[in-house]
Amino acid sequence: MKIPPVKGTRDFYPPQMAVRNFLSDGWKAVSLRNGFVEYDGPIFEYLRMYQVKSGDEIVEQLFHLTDRGGRELAIRPEITPTLARMINQQINALPRPIKWFSMPRLCRAERPQKGRLREFFQWNIDIVGVDDVLADAEVIFCTLDYLRSVGLSSSDIIAKISSRKLLAALLEHVGVPHDKLDGLYPILDKKAKLPGEAFVEMVAGVVESSQAVDKLLALMEVHSAGQIKDIVPDIAANDIAQAALDEVHQVFDLLEAMGVGDYCRFDMSIVRGLAYYTGIVFEVHDAVGDLRAVCGGGRYDNLLRDFGGPSVPATGMGMGDCVLEILLRDRGLLTEGMFKRKMDYFVACADSNLRPKAMEIVARLRQSGAATEFSYKSANLGKQLKAADACGARHCLIIGQEYSTDKKLVLKEMASGTQSLVNESNFLEKSAFIQ
Ligand code: HAM
Repeated sequence: MKIPPVKGTRDFYPPQMAVRNFLSDGWKAVSLRNGFVEYDGPIFEYLRMYQVKSGDEIVEQLFHLTDRGGRELAIRPEITPTLARMINQQINALPRPIKWFSMPRLCRAERPQKGRLREFFQWNIDIVGVDDVLADAEVIFCTLDYLRSVGLSSSDIIAKISSRKLLAALLEHVGVPHDKLDGLYPILDKKAKLPGEAFVEMVAGVVESSQAVDKLLALMEVHSAGQIKDIVPDIAANDIAQAALDEVHQVFDLLEAMGVGDYCRFDMSIVRGLAYYTGIVFEVHDAVGDLRAVCGGGRYDNLLRDFGGPSVPATGMGMGDCVLEILLRDRGLLTEGMFKRKMDYFVACADSNLRPKAMEIVARLRQSGAATEFSYKSANLGKQLKAADACGARHCLIIGQEYSTDKKLVLKEMASGTQSLVNESNFLEKSAFIQ
């Protein structure tokens, strides 16, 4: 009986694992240089944790189970609720600022499609306890710091930035009732994925006033702060909207100062699907607009309180590995050559009587820290040299006739093909330095 892999999951054979490690090594290095420290949580949590504040869409996508004790559990579809729970548990003991990163394996029962699977890895960075747009700008900078480090330029990707606070104030200002906002956000978030008419119909299903719907639709097309005045001429009279707009300006000024301004664009259609966002929100998209979002995040000042903790502000971002990999391949930034195996030494044994000696040398090289491989068969030397090449060895150490006669090894540098005779004990003493 052949059992296929489950729909929407991936098997990571060594070549795929090399790509996954390349992505996560980069995420980790950039997190650390931006001052984040790593954390992780359990792969499953109580089901109700995701029902509190993540929003209907994510709840519909949960893989949930009942354990033997009758507890309703769910595999984590995101790690932000876990982060909120963990921070709440130790809120008074944790050193501030809380700047944490994680790279969890997540599961969502989505319809598998390009860039969206049912199991994926997601880089998360979050700053908790900082009620200042400096933290929002830092999260966006760190995200772009990574994307730039893997070779994506401002002609490949755009960070689209907006503010839920600003949108909420403007929508209320143009006549959308406050209690309709939470129901509206997931619809607005789907705008790019829906046919125009279907989108308008869904909006009209929530907002009764056709005048308000028109203004809302116009706001969704806004790509510069100046354009807002064309739709809401009296914005300056609305203190909340004006303050939110000032915040947006500050974020852009900071990103400009940090040297990533050319990646960033104001875009009011960025709303985010998750229910908990409260302030600055952003997504990074490929410039062509072919793919789903590379990542998304924003400020969520009420989540810790909603989870029974104190009111502590927070802002963060999540980036999956799927769209990122597609984009990097597309731009020629992920090539097979990047993942060629590399070993320091290959020990070739030309005489099966010398096998124990060869294994002693293999073991001593490995112990000294040199990545060392050998062939299980004392086949002819030509085959062993091919095997040395195949595993990316920089040097081949041949133990054969020269060893039997006067305890010498042949050291061959694979790239140049140059060979020299080395004395066994001298060589092994120094081998740690020849890598
Ligand atoms: P999200 O928008 O649900 O936000 O997901 C963020 C990113 O995770 C997406 O842009 C995408 O890269 C990736 N992603 C989501 N679903 C899938 C999927 N089915 N397959 C592959 N990749 C996927 C969050 O999860 C928030 N918790 C992020 C956050 C952290 N906000 C603040 N802190």
